[in-house]
Amino acid sequence: MFSHKIIETRSMLLLILSLVVISIGGIVELVPLFFLQNTIEKVEGMRPYTPLELAGRNIYIREGCYSCHSQMIRPFRDEVARYGPYSLAAESMYDHPFQWGSKRTGPDLARVGARYSDEWQVKHLKDPRSLVPESVMPGYPFLANNTLRTDNAAAHLKTNVIVGVPYTDEMIKFAEADMRAQANPDSDDVEGLEKRYAKISVRDFDGNPNKLTEMDALVAYLQMLGTLVDFEKYEPEKNLR
Ligand code: HEC
Repeated sequence: MFSHKIIETRSMLLLILSLVVISIGGIVELVPLFFLQNTIEKVEGMRPYTPLELAGRNIYIREGCYSCHSQMIRPFRDEVARYGPYSLAAESMYDHPFQWGSKRTGPDLARVGARYSDEWQVKHLKDPRSLVPESVMPGYPFLANNTLRTDNAAAHLKTNVIVGVPYTDEMIKFAEADMRAQANPDSDDVEGLEKRYAKISVRDFDGNPNKLTEMDALVAYLQMLGTLVDFEKYEPEKNLR
């Protein structure tokens, strides 16, 4: 058509009109978000990670577990049948960075918490093929020997505060004690820890009570994954607007 020729023979005009067309699409997608009060649904049970779980999460990131494992169950029937209730935005609201992942060489881990015993997790992490002969997952036996660093616990909490995680001054003050207490049920500090963090497991996670190891932290993290929100009480309809 005639008008097309005008546009297509003037590269600047074509560029400007293309930008106009593209930005309409962008505006249609972006503007509604400014009028939503919240893009994260309200759920009960979410709390910031305990210092021990956070340390485990840092090890998970350091070891690159995300390169084979996602942590996001999509709202499709096959996913929900295999892994459990689909992931909610609220469940990653304290994740910096989030661990949704983009590759599933292994299964999704968003709800792996409490699915296996601690013994299973430790044995599997040390030598995956001792439990799943066809597994291609590498072993991480050194985690059971590595002493967990605790001196940086408060610093990790403080850093998360900067990006919006609601750790209180008290949580920061007791971070190191809380980290040790969660892996030691006999500790006097357990009471304070349980007051500061709801729904936590306190036990010797790696099966070696003499030493606080990176294995303790990683297993504490894995055993908590996907267990905070009580889906019997969660009503998705309430959150629709
Ligand atoms: C090279 C890819 C790869 C990497 C890296 C990897 N995994 Fe795996 N993982 C797998 C595969 C494959 C399976 C399934 C077979 C099995 O259970 O061993 C699996 C299974 C698992 C399971 C059992 C899940 C279930 O529902 O049965 C857990 C837990 C797990 N991995 C944790 C981890 C952690 C923690 C790390 C990092 C320290 C890690 N994986 C790193 C490939 C990987």
